[in-house]
Amino acid sequence: MAKIGNRTSYCTDLTEKDIGKEVIVKGWTAKRRDLGGVIFVDLRDRTGILQVVFEAAEVANFPLAEKIRSEYVLAVRGKLRARDEDMINPKIKTGAIEVLAYELEILSDADTPPFAIEDAESVNEMTRLKYRYLDLRTDRMTEIMRLRSEMLYVTRDYLHKNGFWEIETPYLGKSTPEGARDYLVPSRVHNGSFYALPQSPQLYKQLLMVGGADKYYQVARCFRDEDLRANRQPEFTQIDLEMSFVTQKQVMDLSYGLVREIFKKCAGVKLPKKIREMPYDEAMSRFGSDKPDTRFGLELIDVSDIAAHCGFQVFERAVATKGGSVRMINAKGFVIENNLILSRRDIDALGEFVKTYKAKGLAWIQVRHGMELNSSITKFMSKETVDALLKRANAEPGDLLLFVADKDEVVFKTLGALRLHLAEIAGLIDKSKFDVLWVVDFPMFEWSEEEKRHVAVHHPFTMPHEKDLDILESDPGAVRAAAYDLVINGEESGGGSLRIHDRALQKRIFNILGFTDEQIEERFGFFVNAFKYGAPPHGGLAFGFDRLVMMLAHTENIKDVIAFPKIQNASDVMTQAPTPVDKKQTEELGLKVVEKI
Ligand code: AMO
Ligand code: AMP
Repeated sequence: MAKIGNRTSYCTDLTEKDIGKEVIVKGWTAKRRDLGGVIFVDLRDRTGILQVVFEAAEVANFPLAEKIRSEYVLAVRGKLRARDEDMINPKIKTGAIEVLAYELEILSDADTPPFAIEDAESVNEMTRLKYRYLDLRTDRMTEIMRLRSEMLYVTRDYLHKNGFWEIETPYLGKSTPEGARDYLVPSRVHNGSFYALPQSPQLYKQLLMVGGADKYYQVARCFRDEDLRANRQPEFTQIDLEMSFVTQKQVMDLSYGLVREIFKKCAGVKLPKKIREMPYDEAMSRFGSDKPDTRFGLELIDVSDIAAHCGFQVFERAVATKGGSVRMINAKGFVIENNLILSRRDIDALGEFVKTYKAKGLAWIQVRHGMELNSSITKFMSKETVDALLKRANAEPGDLLLFVADKDEVVFKTLGALRLHLAEIAGLIDKSKFDVLWVVDFPMFEWSEEEKRHVAVHHPFTMPHEKDLDILESDPGAVRAAAYDLVINGEESGGGSLRIHDRALQKRIFNILGFTDEQIEERFGFFVNAFKYGAPPHGGLAFGFDRLVMMLAHTENIKDVIAFPKIQNASDVMTQAPTPVDKKQTEELGLKVVEKI
């Protein structure tokens, strides 16, 4: 039991209005200055810092105060007073006040921490993650955790007000077809059998619609064993929702409404009421991406028609190949007169950059002062062809034209990435802005060269466009899906679709995907069966909640918004998970570790 009573206030909830009051505050020692006879302590709790003064004549046990060191946990009873004029610190919220301590209790001492909390930003990430509980004490992490909590609160409030029920679905379940590798959990009772942790609650939420829930949501943890990136974690959180008897527009309006509400209430950001819907094909051809960042130009320009007979073999061959093209970006102003922004070395570096996207090369034309050209390819072409390219690009002195010739897939991927890279180099992105749009009309299927069959782009339960039902079997590649992604600042923040509720149609889709009846039964039997007993039309969406937090926290590192994240190799540096387990445990599970690789 603490001698000093209950806390009366958080550190920074106190203001000049409270001067004269007796207060009890508790927290960590952020800083301590011993002036001999007077000790100043910056006391920190999750709200921030409050200065506490121990004066030998005022505090009951001054020698105890002399023992205080960094990160000691203190309880202090005292009187709030105004700081002396010359001691005012305008940089902090409580800069004009301080607590004159009457009584002190050291609730916990502390070893010297591996890094000073105030300097954490300059400490390497591995150390911060190893001592995450210390990192969480920093202003920045504290603020992000607060923000995340508030965003969840607003989410729940909004969805509740819109008639949604929060329903939990199993973590120990059957594999879902989201397309990544599953995390498996071996069963002790059924040796040799495994649960799969959900990649998303997709099947369950649709079964909830069959079950009549009508409007469901869940703050759902999802597990995907995939290669990690700056915006990907093996376990992450979705705001997952599903609705019955709705149109695509209703799902999209409701979902975007949620994002607007979160941005407004949690960050004071007013997003436009109406945002544009960009068809997938347009997103790809203009931006080379199904999650276009439209905060800047540098759009892709198709020059296949000019390239078809241009004299440069590489270009001609690409256009002659089925599904191939030559496209370019005009990096406007990347060459300014003879004062090059991008030097030859820089352009060579771009050539290396594109190789990571499987492009075979990057052809370029520098347009210099007086339209004088310097180029890796013009020597292969007639003047007419070069002029046609310049005209198509609207080229002016100062421009750098960059070309990729390949299969569309490679061209889009490469130029899409190059576009972002160039914008980054030139600082073209106004990071204070939010650019929000829907990408719609995704293709239903894509051809998998690996599996030699069509695979679902979203998932096999996605509704095709009604208009495309006639060509389902004859031209699956051209079928569009009633699927939609909400893209914010070039990031896929969420996606969803209308679902198939008609059994006959579902069967046609499975057939196109090449599933036999046995495979359907084995993989989705329970699911398909449910649709025999009356399924309502339904649709939904899931937001990557961590990504939404990243946007409002202005970070590009998903680890920043998760209390205890995993690193690149999917391990947790604090707990060391995953770790080997006792032999007894594996024996119970009927497992034998054959070899540690
Ligand atoms: P999808 O697979 O597109 O859809 O996932 C929805 C959103 O979740 C986020 N996301 C991730 N965030 C962090 N780390 C990851 N590894 C990760 N993977 C995905 C993205 C993405 O937009 N069941 C469907 C939704 C539906 O159809 O209703 C689904 O899971 O922001
Ligand atoms: P080369 O004749 O191989 O030196 O190529 C001339 C230029 O074309 C170089 O700048 C190469 O990087 C570029 N290049 C080669 N292959 C491609 C390609 N598939 N797409 C675009 N540019 C290419």
